[in-house]
Amino acid sequence: MAANPTTRDNWGSKLGFVLAAAGSAIGLGNIWGFPTQAGLNGGAGFVLVYLLCVLLIGVPVMIAELTLGRSSQSDPVGVFKKLAPGSPWKLVGVLGVVTGLVILSYYCVVAGWTLKYILLTLDGAFTGSTATEVAETFTGFVSNGPQVILFHFIFVLMTVLIVIGGVRGGIEKVTTILMPMLFLLLLLLVLRSVTLPGASTGLEFYLKPDFEKMDSTVILTAMGQAFFSLSLGMGAMITYGSYLSRREDLISSAVYVSIADTTIAILAGFAIFPALFAVEGLTPDAGPGLIFVVLPNIFNNIPLGQLFGAAFYLLLAIAALTSSISLLEVVVAYMIDQRGWARKKAAVVVGAMAFLLGVPSAVGNGYSSLFSGFLDRADFLFGKVALIVGGLFICIFLAWKWGIPRALQEIHRSNEHFALAPLWAVLIRFICPLGISILLIQTLWEFFS
Ligand code: PHE
Repeated sequence: MAANPTTRDNWGSKLGFVLAAAGSAIGLGNIWGFPTQAGLNGGAGFVLVYLLCVLLIGVPVMIAELTLGRSSQSDPVGVFKKLAPGSPWKLVGVLGVVTGLVILSYYCVVAGWTLKYILLTLDGAFTGSTATEVAETFTGFVSNGPQVILFHFIFVLMTVLIVIGGVRGGIEKVTTILMPMLFLLLLLLVLRSVTLPGASTGLEFYLKPDFEKMDSTVILTAMGQAFFSLSLGMGAMITYGSYLSRREDLISSAVYVSIADTTIAILAGFAIFPALFAVEGLTPDAGPGLIFVVLPNIFNNIPLGQLFGAAFYLLLAIAALTSSISLLEVVVAYMIDQRGWARKKAAVVVGAMAFLLGVPSAVGNGYSSLFSGFLDRADFLFGKVALIVGGLFICIFLAWKWGIPRALQEIHRSNEHFALAPLWAVLIRFICPLGISILLIQTLWEFFS
């Protein structure tokens, strides 16, 4: 039984919606993933390609998802059921819901690490440690299965409690407080980082492109990163768009959210690279350990480092929380709209599922050899492949099944002067599906070779 549409939740204001959607987009992907990828892929060149990917693929796909969501006022499965009744297209929605659940499960594990790091840093656990000791602390913690599970549990619990509060009373309320806080904290860190003696080497690495380092992998990595970072391809933006009233302008919303997401990712680089190059012996290509293994050394070497360190991990936890609630909301919206469940029951049951599903990811980093590498594989399959596949089908559905004219009709309800409509149509019909297909083939090729 479907829930009564008149009682469906919605956003209290456009600002509330934009902050919540930006909260979904801004997460570990920005503050952990973006600097890591930029560091591994040559710095400024990667940043440049990333910006192009956001502009040419990210923004058009986000407009597509918001349009589908607002038009059908339904969860990701309901969208396809309503717009293409009786067709197998609803499987795209099902894929999105499953993807949301799996990403949520391991996302909360890594988010749990950030909670532990707030405590460790506040506690002065890294004060006076050598780089090797800092690395050992990380390995020691992530291989302590029960403790990682505990922090994972705490994070899932916080996520569930907010989602139980509903769209307006929970998600919107919490994100309108947390997002400005996150922005201020990040600005503080950037100021600290760029004023350190020796910061200029890092700035150069981050701002001066070295075109020799650019190859097709850099482009594809940037595109995958843009998908994950903008929360595209699994229906998070469909779901958030479905709580939008018909009065709110979709285009400016998509643009604001993308600008906010990209700004925070770029600022995260400004917080990390100048400080990184200011400390002797650290390199930017540390990979996923960058945030947990490299950063404590930086905080050790700067005045008031303990405080800035704790602030940084707090920032990371906040960013992760506003993303994890959107992941949970996708699955909860499905349970409410399609299964007729009450919100509270949906949030608790799905939260419990995500917690259990996250346990292999929590113990696979040194505690249990059985699940070794589980988190990375789940991230590859769901945080990358499934998002790309989902994004591809969303473009094809909108452009070739539902149709650009219907989409434009929906957009025009709140924005009669969508001047770039012809450009958007070309991007969503041809450029996005083509670009995403290349990314998909390359990703699968990498996987099987
Ligand atoms: N965009 C989030 C981040 O950058 C992750 C996310 C992906 C959230 C997909 C929702 C959907 O961390």
